[in-house]
Amino acid sequence: MEDGQKEILYSNIEIKKRVGELADKISADYADKEIIIIGILKGAFIFVADLIRAMSIPCSVDFVRCASYGTGSESSEKVVMTKDIETSIKGQDVLIVEDIVDTGLTLKYLVHWLEERNPRSLKVCTLLDKRKRRKVEFEADYVGFSVADGFLVGYGLDYSERYRFLPDIYVIKE
Ligand code: IMP
Ligand code: MG
Repeated sequence: MEDGQKEILYSNIEIKKRVGELADKISADYADKEIIIIGILKGAFIFVADLIRAMSIPCSVDFVRCASYGTGSESSEKVVMTKDIETSIKGQDVLIVEDIVDTGLTLKYLVHWLEERNPRSLKVCTLLDKRKRRKVEFEADYVGFSVADGFLVGYGLDYSERYRFLPDIYVIKE
């Protein structure tokens, strides 16, 4: 994809402001608690890094990686875990951090997967939410931006592994 085929949706300044607001809300909600952040690779790595540095509460960090198999750019119904967490979450307050929720299949699968380890609490924070595209019912507890349909890149999000490094978020033009 050549330059000019994508347009800016959220600038790094807007993202930084919204991430700060989310961090403040999370810090207040979990005051006096030490939470475990579980980021979903790869897309969420930049959001996790910015979010935890904007929070005023201590946390530990772990990552999972999930893959969904299907054809083309559409997510399929089948989600598998390709990298599990390496910490025990039993009795802990856990916050899953994701870049974008689309069909909801990944989060639904992951929430179920982690709930089986009996955390004390389990919530989800996503930077972006394409609510209208859900195939399964799923509501995140913290949402940065609700977005319309369209493929987004930058700030960790990729199109065939490209554009993750961009500081702003763009929508790919049809
Ligand atoms: P879901 O299981 O359909 O909710 O898919 C969520 C995953 O699909 C996210 O973690 C992203 O990796 C990927 N994804 C969905 N929409 C986009 C997008 O617009 N840009 C980049 N990745 C996306
Ligand atoms: Mg992702």
